[in-house]
Amino acid sequence: MYKAYVSGSVVTWALRGVSLEVPRGSFIAVMGPSGSGKTTLLNILGLLDRPTRGRVYIDGVDTSKLSDRELAEFRNRKIGFVFQSFNLINRLTVLENVELPLVARGLPKDLRVKLATEALLKVGGDLSWLHKRPNQLSGGQQQRVAIARAIVTSPSILLADEPTGNLDTASAKIVVRTFKELNRLGQTIVVITHNPEVGQCAERIYLIRDGKMVGESKPDPGRCLISGG
Ligand SMILES: Nc1ncnc2c1ncn2[C@@H]1O[C@H](COP(=O)(O)OP(=O)(O)O)[C@@H](O)[C@H]1O
Ligand SMILES: [Mg+2]
Repeated sequence: MYKAYVSGSVVTWALRGVSLEVPRGSFIAVMGPSGSGKTTLLNILGLLDRPTRGRVYIDGVDTSKLSDRELAEFRNRKIGFVFQSFNLINRLTVLENVELPLVARGLPKDLRVKLATEALLKVGGDLSWLHKRPNQLSGGQQQRVAIARAIVTSPSILLADEPTGNLDTASAKIVVRTFKELNRLGQTIVVITHNPEVGQCAERIYLIRDGKMVGESKPDPGRCLISGG
């Protein structure tokens, strides 16, 4: 996979030869220095952007064949995103935040509430949060809400870009535990992280540098952030 950003006469090759296979049900970490192309890769995997060269197949579908509109629809159905900054809306309640992707699909209110509540419980959230505003919760709790919102549509793949980047260790542990539990339930997960202790919790680590995949390794679970509880 190749990706060039063009602005004026300046061309930046953010990806220059990256190939990645994400088996269904796997938990993968992508690590690399700042500027190495991690976010670019995640945006392309998540169908927010198209590669300059190369293809993304999801559930057997060659997404290069889809129109922009089909691509957006496919993305809403297949991909869940989690970001470093949570991206929750503080003027909505927790419940309304988690429901949002279902509103976009036109589901009736009672079904939305049911699915949103299930998603919140699945990520270890608490029902007492439902009618609070996100900013009344701790950082770790807010990221759990963001993960609930990401999985409420039962996506094929959950993509997270530095999900623990803004969190203290205790909150980061909560997030990693949530990913582990979701993965145990069958959720496919790709996490981009700077934190080696987070990467070590995945099943496989891919290293990216200067837009190229430079290695892969099997994590050492003993070095995972939540090893030993
Ligand atoms: N929208 C953009 N326009 C131009 N250059 C970009 C854009 N986004 C990223 N880049 C460049 O592409 C390279 C990879 O960036 P990025 O994927 O954000 O890396 P990472 O997430 O690993 O820090 C960097 O050199 C960055 O400056
Ligand atoms: Mg990045």
